[in-house]
Amino acid sequence: MRLPVPVKVGLFALVVMGAYTYYANSIPQIQSKPPEELSLEGGNVTPEQLVAAGEKIFKDKGTCEICHKIGQKGTRAPDLAGVGAIAAKRRAGVGAKGYLVESLLDPGAFLVEGYPNIMPRVDRPPIGLNRSELWALAAFLQSQGGTVDITLDDIPKTAGAQAVGGGAQAAELKLPGDAKAGQAVFSGKGACIACHKAGALGASPVGPELTQIARIQTPEYIMGKILNPAGMGTVAGYPPGVMPATFGQTLTAREYLDLVSFLLTLKGDGAATAKR
Ligand code: HEC
Ligand code: HEC
Repeated sequence: MRLPVPVKVGLFALVVMGAYTYYANSIPQIQSKPPEELSLEGGNVTPEQLVAAGEKIFKDKGTCEICHKIGQKGTRAPDLAGVGAIAAKRRAGVGAKGYLVESLLDPGAFLVEGYPNIMPRVDRPPIGLNRSELWALAAFLQSQGGTVDITLDDIPKTAGAQAVGGGAQAAELKLPGDAKAGQAVFSGKGACIACHKAGALGASPVGPELTQIARIQTPEYIMGKILNPAGMGTVAGYPPGVMPATFGQTLTAREYLDLVSFLLTLKGDGAATAKR
C-alpha cells in the first residue's frame, strides 16, 4: 500500500503515541517526594473537619483551582460556586451526592454545557487522589450551597486504587524523549511560544498558559492535543481552530517525543528549563 508521506508520518506518530502511552501507563511511578496522604478510613471526623480537609485538597493536591476558580466565570472550567445545590438538579435519577462523585470519577459522563471533555479523572495520575481525599473533596463541594451529608460509603471502594503512594504529584513519568531537546522544539521548530507561555518561556496569551500542564493533564491528553487539537475539544475561553493541526506532519517522531517529554516536566515550579 502506498501512502502520501504526510499520512505515513501521521500514522507513525500515532503508533508511537500509542506505544508510549502504553509504556507510560505500565512503568512503575518513581516517587520523588514522600507522599502526603490523607486517610480518614475508620476515623471519626466532623463535617466541618471534612470540609476543611476538602478545601485544602481543592487548593493544593487536587489542583482543582488551576482550572476552576470559585466565584469566577469565564475560565477554562465551570464556576463551582453553588455546586452543592446545582448538583441535585444536574441529572435526573442521580442525586446530588451521586452527581458530585461521578463528576470526580467519570467527568465525561455529564458535560456542563459549553465545556469540552477535558477534566481528568481525579483519582488517577497526575492528580491521583485516594478514597479519603475524594470523600473530603466531595464534602467540600457539597458545602458550596448544599448540605454536607456524604459518607465514606458513598465513595466507591475501587476509587483511588491507582493513587498508590500519593498519586502523581509525587511521581515522575519517564518517557524516553529528551526534555531538553523538546524545549528547543517548543521554542524553535514547533513555534509553540508564538501562542503559549510555559514558565519562563514565551509570553503569548493566544493559547492557555502551559506552565502547570503536567500537574493537571494526562500524557494521553497532551500527546493527543499536539497531533489533533480539535479532536481533544477546545479549551473554554479560547478560540477553536487556532492551534495548528499540522504538527503530526511537520514534526518528526523524535521531535514529537522530545516535545512531549518537555511538556511533562511543566509542573508549575517556574523552572521551565529542562534538565537532561
Ligand atoms: C484540566 C482542568 C480541570 C481540572 C484540573 C479539574 N476540572 Fe473539574 N471540570 C473541568 C471542566 C472543563 C468541566 C466541565 C466539563 C465537564 O462537565 O466535565 C469540569 C466540571 C466539574 C464539575 C461539574 C460542575 C457542574 O457545574 O456540574 C465538578 C463538580 C468539578 N469539575 C470538580 C472538580 C474538582 C473538585 C477538581 C479537583 C480535584 C477538578 N474539577 C479538576 C476542568 C477541570
Ligand atoms: C497559533 C497559535 C498556537 C500555536 C502555534 C500552538 N498552539 Fe497550542 N493552543 C492554542 C490555542 C488557542 C489553544 C486553546 C484552544 C484549543 O483547545 O484548541 C491551545 C491549546 C493547547 C493545549 C491544551 C492546553 C490546556 O490547558 O488544555 C496544549 C497542550 C497545547 N496547545 C500545546 C501546544 C504545543 C506543544 C504547541 C507547539 C508544538 C502549540 N500548542 C502550538 C494555540 C496555539
